[in-house]
Amino acid sequence: MREILLNPGPVNLSERVRQALLKPDLCHREPEFAAMQQSIRRQLLRIYGLPEQDWAAILITGSGTSAMEAMLTSCIPARGKVLVIENGVYGERLSRIAAIHGMDHACLRHEWGGVIDVGRLERCLSEDPGFTHVAVVHHETTSGRLNRLETIAEVCARFRVNMLVDGVSSFGAEELRFEDWGMHACAATANKCLHGIPGTSFVIVKRAALRRTEDIQRTLYLDLNTYLRQQDQNGTPFTQSVQSFYALDEALREHAEDGGWQTRRTDYWRKMDSVRHGLADLKIEALLPREDSSCVLNAFRLPNNLDYASLHDGLKQRGFVIYAGQGEFAKTLFRISVMGSITMTDMERFLEAVRGLL
Ligand SMILES: Cc1ncc(COP(=O)(O)O)c(C=O)c1O
Repeated sequence: MREILLNPGPVNLSERVRQALLKPDLCHREPEFAAMQQSIRRQLLRIYGLPEQDWAAILITGSGTSAMEAMLTSCIPARGKVLVIENGVYGERLSRIAAIHGMDHACLRHEWGGVIDVGRLERCLSEDPGFTHVAVVHHETTSGRLNRLETIAEVCARFRVNMLVDGVSSFGAEELRFEDWGMHACAATANKCLHGIPGTSFVIVKRAALRRTEDIQRTLYLDLNTYLRQQDQNGTPFTQSVQSFYALDEALREHAEDGGWQTRRTDYWRKMDSVRHGLADLKIEALLPREDSSCVLNAFRLPNNLDYASLHDGLKQRGFVIYAGQGEFAKTLFRISVMGSITMTDMERFLEAVRGLL
């Protein structure tokens, strides 16, 4: 029986993406690899209609965190200062990256799952004119909250501060208005809303933003200027995960043929709405209202009579993998993601399995 993955990536693969993994062995210094790399880079920009002369997709072999680290360390000039907005694990991870690299930064902390307080953001930026960048997570996977980038972007524009976005769990399924929101970069990954396999992540970056950091290199492996120079000339500084590229190239074709991020969002919402309604009927409450939630993942309160381990193990026996709450949420929440090649029938069978367990 195929196990249905309701964790936030890696996701269930479609058959055509799985078959792409079986393509011939390939050296990453051969022209066939270069052609595939350019195809992926072009397709990534096309998802949000970004012109190639102004924007670049830079491909890295590593998980989503490597893209976050590459973005922060490569996009902020030596004299720059970043304000990191935190309302969950991944905002806190951005801060840790800045701290580890000794970057000038400050944290704008919120409780996990809380709404970002734009008034506080404005005060921080007005009190310290040294800030050059704001870093923020789009979909905070800790809680399922979709942070409202448009309001943050509006404040950033007023203070002439550049916005760096962790779009790891939203890229490809939620709206991202790169130009309108004045985004400078967005970190994301192959194995979430794009339905590829783990191993490849990427940063979509404004070329002009990287030109300002050409003179500094904070890391050897994650320096985006090094990648950009070589990828623009059909090369790669390091060995890439070739099979993961095969999968991503095919997954991107499928994404476009299906109708792009808009169709993916509609499809995810259809599945998520069925989960939200089905669980509500069983008196299992969602953490956040629908209008604050992403289409990708929602968090739910554990029922009183069932701990997470029993729920997880019972569902796994029935063929479904769910996801625990992180940190302080571990005892009270579980999370359901609807990414990947799964169907409404899978969701109905999932709800039937939960009903059986209760
Ligand atoms: C918003 C967000 N950022 C970053 C990451 C880290 O990605 P990875 O585990 O692939 O390093 C995740 C993972 O779930 C995420 O949801």
